[in-house]
Amino acid sequence: MAKKTVRDIEVKGKKVLIRVDFNVPQKDGEITDENRIVQALPTIKYVLEQGGKAIVFSHLGRIKKEEDKAKNSLSIVADRLSEHLDMPVRFIPKTRGEALEKAIDELENGQILMFENTRYEDLDGKKESKNDPELGRYWASLGDVFVNDAFGTAHREHASNVGIAANIKETVAGFLLEKEIRFIGGTLENPDRPLVAILGGAKVSDKIGVIRNLLKVADHILIGGGMAYTFFKALGYEVGTSLLEADKVELAKELLTEAEGKILLGKDVVTAKDFDKDSEKNIRKVTEIPADEMGMDIGPETIELFSKHLKDARTVIWNGPLGVFEFPRFAVGTKAIAQTLAGLKEELTTIIGGGDSAAAVIQFGLADDFTHISTGGGASLEYLEGKVLPGIDCVLDRS
Ligand code: 3PG
Repeated sequence: MAKKTVRDIEVKGKKVLIRVDFNVPQKDGEITDENRIVQALPTIKYVLEQGGKAIVFSHLGRIKKEEDKAKNSLSIVADRLSEHLDMPVRFIPKTRGEALEKAIDELENGQILMFENTRYEDLDGKKESKNDPELGRYWASLGDVFVNDAFGTAHREHASNVGIAANIKETVAGFLLEKEIRFIGGTLENPDRPLVAILGGAKVSDKIGVIRNLLKVADHILIGGGMAYTFFKALGYEVGTSLLEADKVELAKELLTEAEGKILLGKDVVTAKDFDKDSEKNIRKVTEIPADEMGMDIGPETIELFSKHLKDARTVIWNGPLGVFEFPRFAVGTKAIAQTLAGLKEELTTIIGGGDSAAAVIQFGLADDFTHISTGGGASLEYLEGKVLPGIDCVLDRS
């Protein structure tokens, strides 16, 4: 069901609550990946340009003890947002109270403020994360309308998304949430075929729900990364010291049977003796992995085989890297597939389903060559599993 968006409501002169996901990675007090900030800009700019009073908020990290607060303050994110918008973003270092309420009352049309990390409220009985009814009511009382643009948090049922939505007249999607629904939800519902899914990452156990759901809709599923070795074992091959979930081998056999040929595993792999960035590389057939070597990447024949399938696709959805892409010498397979897709951008819809695969294409400098790179981690996975996400469900349907 299509959802109402910020385009469908009047925001001029209104106090517009905007929930974003600014849970961005940081190192030594610096933001190391600002993708989530950049992707939230269209909604924020739209509200400001239309003369709304923007009240922006997010969680950041997890707050379990008092000491977690300082390193998870949103103040550096407010500064970065201000740079992107090229205008002041007033930061209120509170999640409730007089100072916040006064600052909201003082907002003029087209002005913006941001308040502190919603999870500061978790120190007092996990109010945010447990969707405390009083907190949802309180935050809802601060605005006139609610724009949820936090796709990364859509799998959470928290006070700052569903709690507010339950206590305010209008909850609509921002442009980022709309885009995520269109590309991920729309592809799962009604893909332009052939639909090819690429799945990687370390563990089969993390992706069981995704594989099962994609088996219903995808025409082919290409499997690489650490999880492939459990499938190789299921086919009866020895996998040396590669990542193996021995208790999932039976499940992998079942999935291969259910797939009726839809699942494609590689033909060769790149192995090494140690899990080390400088380890010597070997190329091995998947049926000939020596006992003292581990798989680190897909091999050249596999790259060719996978690329052939991608060239015939109309839609590709990719979740999980195909090798240890953090080590440049074992990033070759993941990079080659990313480059193949980047080269096909005019011909097909390419969707990166978040998490490490998003980090990989951004690291390769190819972010602009994909149709959509999801801002979700856990949210994208649950969405790909076919689950109803509370943060989407709470947005009004378009009648
Ligand atoms: C994420 O980064 O996946 C989201 O922001 C959700 O964060 P969480 O796992 O701490 O709830």
